[in-house]
Amino acid sequence: MNKRLKVAVIGGGSSYTPELIEGFILNHNELPVTEIWLVDIPEGRHKLQIVGFLAQRMVAKSGLPITVHLTLNRRDALEDANFVTTQMRVGLLQARIWDETIPLKYGVIGQETTGPGGMMKALRTIPALLDIARDMEALCPDAWMLNFTNPAGMVTEAINKHSRIKAIGLCNAPLGIYKWLMEMFDVPSDRIYAEFVGLNHLHWVTQVSVDGESRLEEMMNGDGYSAINVPQSSWNASLIRALGAIPSYYLKYFYLQKEMLQDQIETSAKEGTRAEVVKKLEDELFELYKDPNLSEKPGQLELRGGAYYSEAAVRLMKSLYNDTRDIQTLNVPNGGILDFLPKDACIEVNCIVTKQGPIPMAVTRVPQAVQGLIHAVKTYEQLTIEAAVSGKRELALLALAHHPLVPSANVAEPMLDEMLEINRAYLPKFYPEKE
Ligand code: G6P
Repeated sequence: MNKRLKVAVIGGGSSYTPELIEGFILNHNELPVTEIWLVDIPEGRHKLQIVGFLAQRMVAKSGLPITVHLTLNRRDALEDANFVTTQMRVGLLQARIWDETIPLKYGVIGQETTGPGGMMKALRTIPALLDIARDMEALCPDAWMLNFTNPAGMVTEAINKHSRIKAIGLCNAPLGIYKWLMEMFDVPSDRIYAEFVGLNHLHWVTQVSVDGESRLEEMMNGDGYSAINVPQSSWNASLIRALGAIPSYYLKYFYLQKEMLQDQIETSAKEGTRAEVVKKLEDELFELYKDPNLSEKPGQLELRGGAYYSEAAVRLMKSLYNDTRDIQTLNVPNGGILDFLPKDACIEVNCIVTKQGPIPMAVTRVPQAVQGLIHAVKTYEQLTIEAAVSGKRELALLALAHHPLVPSANVAEPMLDEMLEINRAYLPKFYPEKE
């Protein structure tokens, strides 16, 4: 009988959950999970049942000794958990639609995790994640939290700063780059090394080697990397060559700000924002999930930007559990890795994963040109975190006015007030209950 290995999935009713379940099934030999607790809030009860029943069918079909629990009681799920993964969207997709539409009215990029939209998501999410961290302090103080909830780097930093639990931030974007490199060089990932420098959704790949031989140079004439969840505006090839590094596709919002804003304005007028496209995808996925004969992850899930995130999550749990000491790209405290950032800043960097946790690796080169942008965005992030925990409007205004994508304080202020007001129900720190 395997020793108890309990995983709590906060936001268990997410459309991504079948990814995670598939990951636990495929990796059961090295990560013998015995209990999976899918947790959601009362408003998510219906989704939790649909996804949860599919999860139970997937596990039953595998024949593995795993029990899948569905619960609205987070404390039951967290009690003595070994791993806690978080994949929740406070305010659901409706709040994301606000994040992606309101900034456009002010001539500013509207995006899920970057710019004003990302700030509002952080203001909604950080208090909720800190509540979970409080419960973990009481119920599973030795558990690892694998935080996928966006904006993943900012949220992870808030948890590291304002709680005592062990949290690691995850993103599927680095995995997407590896899959792109695997296809480009036609080799398995264990023969590739890519060095990541920067923050979550704001990283540059500054080294690429295959079998130890540097291959970055030849990539400098390519079109750079993109993914399905951002507009496909193509990169400026001269910039890529001048950078001598591969930018995250989220950097298009910075390096191609004008084109990306124009694309957003046109696309949202034609087919709606990304969130509205995703909402349709989600509705279709849940229709599929309802089918009692479905007992595997449907391929349509790979149409989401967050596809393959379970590979990142399960791979990290496996290495923490087995002390594998392999290299994974994670969101962890900077320490001294980037000497131009505060030590407690959460950065996205390659780490050696041990049982005691990830050990960030020194980076070999940080293009001088990118340091200013990394620092400016980290300053915005740290102001946002303090705004989220304090509920202070002036900190949120400072954060927004200092974001590189916001052109003026006279744009930041009315945009902030409109976004705070519409998100009122999800901002208890900004709008405390009248006693
Ligand atoms: C990428 C990012 C995720 C983000 C997702 C959005 O995978 O790494 O952090 O949430 O895209 O995808 P969506 O399909 O929701 O636009």
